[in-house]
Amino acid sequence: MVGKAVLKVDELSTHYLTGDGEVQALDDASFVLHKGESIGVAGESGCGKSTLAFSLLNLVPPPGQIVNGSINLDGIEVTDLNEKQSRKKIRWKKVSMVFQGAMDIMTPVYTVGHQMVEPLKYHKGIEGKKARAICEKYLELVNLEGGIFDRYPHELSGGQKQRVIIATALLLEPDLVILDEPTTALDVVVEARIMNDLKRLRRELDISMIFITHDLSILAEVSDNLAIMYAGWIVEFGSAKQIYKDPKHPYTEKLIAAIPDIRTDIERLEYIPGVPPNLVNPPTGCRFHPRCHKAMEVCRELEPEIYNIDGVKVKCHLFSEDKEIAESEEAEYETAYEDESASEAYEGELGEEEVVTEEE
Ligand SMILES: Nc1ncnc2c1ncn2[C@@H]1O[C@H](COP(=O)(O)OP(=O)(O)OP(=O)(O)O)[C@@H](O)[C@H]1O
Ligand code: SF4
Ligand SMILES: [Mg+2]
Repeated sequence: MVGKAVLKVDELSTHYLTGDGEVQALDDASFVLHKGESIGVAGESGCGKSTLAFSLLNLVPPPGQIVNGSINLDGIEVTDLNEKQSRKKIRWKKVSMVFQGAMDIMTPVYTVGHQMVEPLKYHKGIEGKKARAICEKYLELVNLEGGIFDRYPHELSGGQKQRVIIATALLLEPDLVILDEPTTALDVVVEARIMNDLKRLRRELDISMIFITHDLSILAEVSDNLAIMYAGWIVEFGSAKQIYKDPKHPYTEKLIAAIPDIRTDIERLEYIPGVPPNLVNPPTGCRFHPRCHKAMEVCRELEPEIYNIDGVKVKCHLFSEDKEIAESEEAEYETAYEDESASEAYEGELGEEEVVTEEE
């Protein structure tokens, strides 16, 4: 049974107002997350995943700003809150976040315990032995010994540090935990263990979770729904099972095809030629058109609407009810697929972890 809606995001746009222009990092994002449910957010580097996460906490770093839309978190309109109200009303209590690279920014001079008790002290006035007991309970929940409380960050492995960060995010039992690349810096064995722990905790504590990663392969096991992002847009949203089985958006199709399967003998990895665009000046029409293998003439001119296909939302002209659009002529412009030099340049980077965006 689907629980109550914990989070409703409607037409959310967040831009960075830089000296070089307005970076349209997130545009028109809409989705709902129910109690106990999880959403996996995937897409190439620079597509707006962290910007979405920061927006949900009302914590977009300057020069970023939520420029449009609504975030309703358990009845609270997050976009109406100022910084002080956000800290008091939502962060840690209703929503907490494991930040990208968080384990590297643990303060080396303080013990794990010292850093963990902060939110308990600030939000609930809990200190001393009682705080320690709560911290130890959550450390054990993430499969660490309670004794880690007295250790310093440099005495822990990367995986242990990441577990401490996750335990801290759970301390105040928020309705929603957002995990931004929680396992990217870890080896695959530790990554699998932590992902399994998170899956178990979600069930045991009935928490909703948003998992963010550029690696779609690790989301299959932990996500009920998937949000596939490209260049600031959610291009496909729906049941993870359905999307893995039958991806509809051409970008999702390629992203899933690019997941290497070590059991089959492949001659060549699938990849998406070209690089994601500069979001100060994204491509006209469909932002994916310069790299799309199914691009049509209409795609360069007209922004696609979002279509509901078998319960999955897809932002692509191919699914338009208007036949003139859905069956428009094949693109006459050159996409990255025909551009041999772009393809070859990209092929040279196969095996590297991320695609470098133009603005990086
Ligand atoms: N502080 C900032 N100022 C200006 N532009 C920014 C800032 N932070 C992010 N951006 C831009 O916003 C876009 C989205 O960035 P974001 O960090 O949300 O991407 P991401 O999907 O999380 O990438 P990654 O997988 O590398 O973490 C990118 O084009 C990025 O360059
Ligand atoms: S709208 Fe056109 S360019 Fe965009 S994903 Fe669909 S077919 Fe490709
Ligand atoms: Mg990020």
